[in-house]
Amino acid sequence: RADGALSGASVIVSAGGTREPLDPVRFLGNRSSGKQGAALAAAAATAGARVTLIAANVDSDVLASLPAGVDIEHVSTTAELEAACTAHASSADVIVMAAAVSDYRPAAAAQHKMKKTGDDLTIALVENPDILRGLVELRDAGRTRTGQLLVGFAAETGSHDTSAESLAQAKLLRKGCDLLVFNDVSGDRAFGHDDNAVVVYRAGADGAEEVARSEGSKAHVSNDVIAAVAAERSR
Ligand code: C5P
Repeated sequence: RADGALSGASVIVSAGGTREPLDPVRFLGNRSSGKQGAALAAAAATAGARVTLIAANVDSDVLASLPAGVDIEHVSTTAELEAACTAHASSADVIVMAAAVSDYRPAAAAQHKMKKTGDDLTIALVENPDILRGLVELRDAGRTRTGQLLVGFAAETGSHDTSAESLAQAKLLRKGCDLLVFNDVSGDRAFGHDDNAVVVYRAGADGAEEVARSEGSKAHVSNDVIAAVAAERSR
């Protein structure tokens, strides 16, 4: 257990999945339920942290399971999530980016519901900012709280010639965050499920170093991830 390991720390967790509107009734989104992020917020609170969960389209029953005392801020789009994260950046000791962020958004959202035309439809997409990368840049520019720890997530399936693990290690170094929680989504796990299996890497002097491995309920995995966060803070 990690009781007290984050005593007094201010922790921000983003959870869920962003939605990018196409028109007033449709959006581009993803299958993230927000369960893992909510479980991380609960584990951080148990460890003594002051926790704000930035919830991107998280189901109300998932939010209802949070312990009292976890603040919740609701966002929907990537732009809203970015604004919320940036607003907290100057005062957070730890930011855990567990949200599944849409890499692209429609170049423009239609004001009225789009109608069928009988023709194929092509939708122009523009790239979204990488929020985690932006937080790393703010920190490196000295504009966030000293010693702030940034934690990224990577859901990878791997491909025929690259293992999921090596993709996750490369992502840690590319994003510049301190810890990366890798979860393999090639099987039945992760999205929407109650179980998960993760490997936590830290950015060491010689590249990515494995610091923890955990498997089981999202609550169990979250306790192990929060323990790794606390250990990294006291290094
Ligand atoms: O590159 P990828 O999307 O796999 O990286 C995942 C990590 O980066 C997660 O921590 C996610 O919350 C974060 N991310 C972000 N902004 C984006 C895309 C991902 O902060 N536009």
